[in-house]
Amino acid sequence: MKFGILTISDRSAKGELEDLSGPRLAERIIRNGGEIVRQLIVPDDLVKIIAVLTEWADSVQMDVILTCGGTGFSPRDVTPEATQAVIEKPAPGIAEAIRSESLKITPHAMLSRATAGIRKRTIIINLPGNPKGALEGFEVIYSALPHAVQLLHEDENAEKGHKFSTFV
Ligand code: MTE
Repeated sequence: MKFGILTISDRSAKGELEDLSGPRLAERIIRNGGEIVRQLIVPDDLVKIIAVLTEWADSVQMDVILTCGGTGFSPRDVTPEATQAVIEKPAPGIAEAIRSESLKITPHAMLSRATAGIRKRTIIINLPGNPKGALEGFEVIYSALPHAVQLLHEDENAEKGHKFSTFV
């Protein structure tokens, strides 16, 4: 499975704050046999986020884009709005699952406005910006990703994949 990881943070984009979430997610994915085809940091800028998501989904053709950060209540948080602007189909179950499992860990999970959806054959998933939250969110969804990708590619084995599958 091919992943892109987009960290969205004004401070990390300026080099004022080390991005720990992107590298930790990348390490987690590689450890499980996934491939990171793009990894980037951008500021909380609607136009820039939309440009990267569009390019990655349309030209790089990765299976999954994970965004970290910019989903909260601060006036600069626009990641869900950028995601909504580029997706062709919503995938509400993914965000619902992350929020509901995360609420078992912290009540602040309800402060994430994260969304998820599909553009062409790429699934875009918003995760929180702090490294712990990003990894906790990823743990909730990763086991469903292989089947999601099979379905998007109309894989002839997709039918078998309805059974719970393991991460590849
Ligand atoms: N979800 C999990 N699993 N773990 C966390 O630590 N942090 C919350 C929430 N979701 C958190 C979480 C907090 S404190 C905020 S403000 C929101 O995600 C939004 O974070 P973001 O603006 O960095 O995207």
